[in-house]
Order: sequence, then C-alpha cells, then structure tokens
Amino acid sequence: ELLYTTRGIVDLEEKVRVKLGIDRVLITPGNLEEDEYVLEDLGKIAGKLIEKLAKDNTIIGVTGGTTMAAVGKKIPRQSKHKGIMVVPARGGLGREVENQANTISAEMARQLNADYRLLHASDTLGEKALESILQDPEIKEVIGIIKSADLLVFGIGRADKMAQRRELPDETVKKLERLKAVSEAFGYYFNRNGEIVHETNSIGIKFQEFQQIPNAIGVAGGVGKVEAILAISHLKKNMTLVTDEAAALEILKNS
Ligand code: BG6
Repeated sequence: ELLYTTRGIVDLEEKVRVKLGIDRVLITPGNLEEDEYVLEDLGKIAGKLIEKLAKDNTIIGVTGGTTMAAVGKKIPRQSKHKGIMVVPARGGLGREVENQANTISAEMARQLNADYRLLHASDTLGEKALESILQDPEIKEVIGIIKSADLLVFGIGRADKMAQRRELPDETVKKLERLKAVSEAFGYYFNRNGEIVHETNSIGIKFQEFQQIPNAIGVAGGVGKVEAILAISHLKKNMTLVTDEAAALEILKNS
C-alpha cells in the first residue's frame, strides 16, 4: 500500500521490506544523523499510520524515547473514532519528562481525541518492589489494558546506548557485551538474531504479548541503529518499520 511517498522511496521501501521479511516498511527521505528535521518526518509518517490504523475502541500501547516523542508531537488530530485508549507499554525510565512513555501517551491521546492511562512505576525496580507494585489496583488495571492492546508503537535503541541511558550496573553491561546484545526495545535486549539476552526488571508488556499483538510499529532511524533494527525484524513478521533513507540504504548493504 502506497502512503505518501515518491517513487524512489517507494522502491526502496519494497526492497527493505523484502530484505527484512516484514509486512510493511515506510521510509522518510534523508539522514537522521545529519539532519534533525528527519526525526520530525519519522514522527509524521508513523503518526499518520497510527491515525490510519486507529478505529473505534482501539487500544494503543507506546514506549518512550526521543523518536517516540517525535511521533507524539506529529500525530494528526482525529475525532472520527471514539473510545480510543492510549497506554504506556512499559514503566518509566530516565529523567527527561518529554521522552517518557507516560508523557507521549498523554500527548498522543490529546491528538487522537482519546482516553489515556499513566503507569506510575519506575523501569528499574528491585524484585521485591516489583512484586508489591503489581498488587496495586491502578497498576493492575493499566497492565490489563496493555495486555489487550491492538497496536504497539515502539522505539528501537542500540543495546549499548540504552544500557548507558538506563545506567545499568557494570555486571549487566558486561553480560550484554558477552552475549552480544545489539538491540533494545520495550525493556528487552536482543542479539543479532533477535534472541532475548536480557530483560529489564519492569512492568508492562511482555515479549510473548508483543508477539501476539495484531499490529506493531517500530520507529527508528540513523545508520547507527541498523544492527538494532535488523535484530528486531526477526521478532515479528507482521510488523511495520518506520525508518530513514540512510538507515534503509545501510540495511540493504548489510548481509
Ligand atoms: C526508550 C524505549 O524509551 O526508547 C526503548 O523504552 C527504545 O525501548 C528507546 O529502545 C529508543 O530511544 P531513542 O531516543 O533512540 O528513540
């Protein structure tokens, strides 16, 4: 299905789609690492697709990060469909409020004329804290909603960068290196083949649930993220990748 792209980009989208073996690839022209506006364009493309897929009562799960923040800002307004719900897919992390899944859920909900829930739980909990937080009725309700999501929109990160951003302890960083983690998405770290090598102690969507979700959109650009993107493309065939031209060309080079 052609969305809003020129011929050359459409050809590139098809080549990358075949190479990755996934359902849909959407590409924005340019290079995210050289031009900051490309991030907004990624957000626009992903936002339009979300608006297109959202129907009455659709439940949308979102993760955090700078890319997802751009999606939240660029999603078009809609008022045709009723009962849409937006929820953060995993507990929060980091300090920048604009990049939190909670903030992005609220922003997206405003644009989509939707309801939203917040997940008031850190992404870096100890096991005991995690257990007790799971007893909280409000958290239970939100987790229930996440589990029945129709659409997950998620950022894809490099394992090393995400380990840094999350300030993971040295031993975990070593473990990630030893197990050759290249990618991180919704709290899981993956190797090149898309095998889980580490899981964040957090609440929210579980890997098995991710695989069951009818629709998933991964959004990530920049040549530096190509290995991370390749790993994710092994996880789920019925997903969409939204990326930039520079990453797309690099994906085609990669064997
Ligand atoms: C995080 C998500 O917030 O953003 C991660 O929880 C993802 O799963 C990461 O890997 C990507 O971040 P960015 O800033 O590169 O879009």
